[in-house]
Amino acid sequence: MIKKCLFPAAGYGTRFLPATKAIPKEMLPILNKPLLQYGVEEAIEAGLNTMAVVTGRGKRAIEDHFDTSYELEQQVKGTSKERYLEEIRKIIANCTFSYTRQIEMKGLGHAILTGETLIGEEPFAVILADDLCNNEDVGVLAQMVKLYEKYKCSIVAVEEVPYKDTNKYGVVAIEEQPALKYGFQEDDNAFKVTDMVEKPSPQDAPSNLAIIGRYILTPDIFDILRDTKPGKGGEIQITDALLQQAKQGKVIAYKFQGKRFDCGSVDGFVAATNYFYDKNHS
Ligand code: UTP
Repeated sequence: MIKKCLFPAAGYGTRFLPATKAIPKEMLPILNKPLLQYGVEEAIEAGLNTMAVVTGRGKRAIEDHFDTSYELEQQVKGTSKERYLEEIRKIIANCTFSYTRQIEMKGLGHAILTGETLIGEEPFAVILADDLCNNEDVGVLAQMVKLYEKYKCSIVAVEEVPYKDTNKYGVVAIEEQPALKYGFQEDDNAFKVTDMVEKPSPQDAPSNLAIIGRYILTPDIFDILRDTKPGKGGEIQITDALLQQAKQGKVIAYKFQGKRFDCGSVDGFVAATNYFYDKNHS
């Protein structure tokens, strides 16, 4: 059973400057809720209750958000505004939060390795809160947890992107006919990963299937990450570590049901805002 969800949230968020100069990117709100809270709610829906957050300098607002504010509670007590705090109160009451700091921002792979101290020797989920996912029915992480229970290996959520955008993502090559050979079921939308490349140019991309910010990882990933040299952009890349697992046939690419917004970019952020506004006001 997967219980823990890791949230790497130490990045600088340079694409969103100057907003992210003093405010963590993960605390930017879509409507009235910070991105990270959407991520935590998705993890809870998937049955996880232990949240592990990798933070960095200037990210203290994250810890304050997932803690009780007695002054505020006092202020809204008995007023109509109390309902605004209902969701976050429930989250605080039902989950545990633990934090560790990434001292040097050496990439997503390094951030995940930094989280080892909070995760230990068990399979775990990873949510990049700036990739906001939504599905009317079952949430994306819940879909992946269900798949993990069946196949017990690392899983990456993938989505088709235009070829011109492959250089923004980790991109996978998959076996097109997974169902028969590995006993996968057709409707699982699960494919064996045969290759992975971090941020390939369109001409070098093995496909247009991009990894988005949802992973389930088996704990052997930590040992692999310890030996992973800096890759693209001089950063320690989770894609490079996952390739080692993929070579042993131990990574599944999952074509998820639902929508995904890249809220680390202004365009994606605006699209998410409009989407959730329409959804909540229809
Ligand atoms: P991004 O590359 O999207 O995040 O990393 P960034 O570096 O914050 O953003 P830009 O490109 O400068 O605008 C994906 C995720 O990995 C985390 C980020 O916080 C984000 O959630 N991350 C990245 C870390 O925690 N540590 C790192 O060293 C790098």
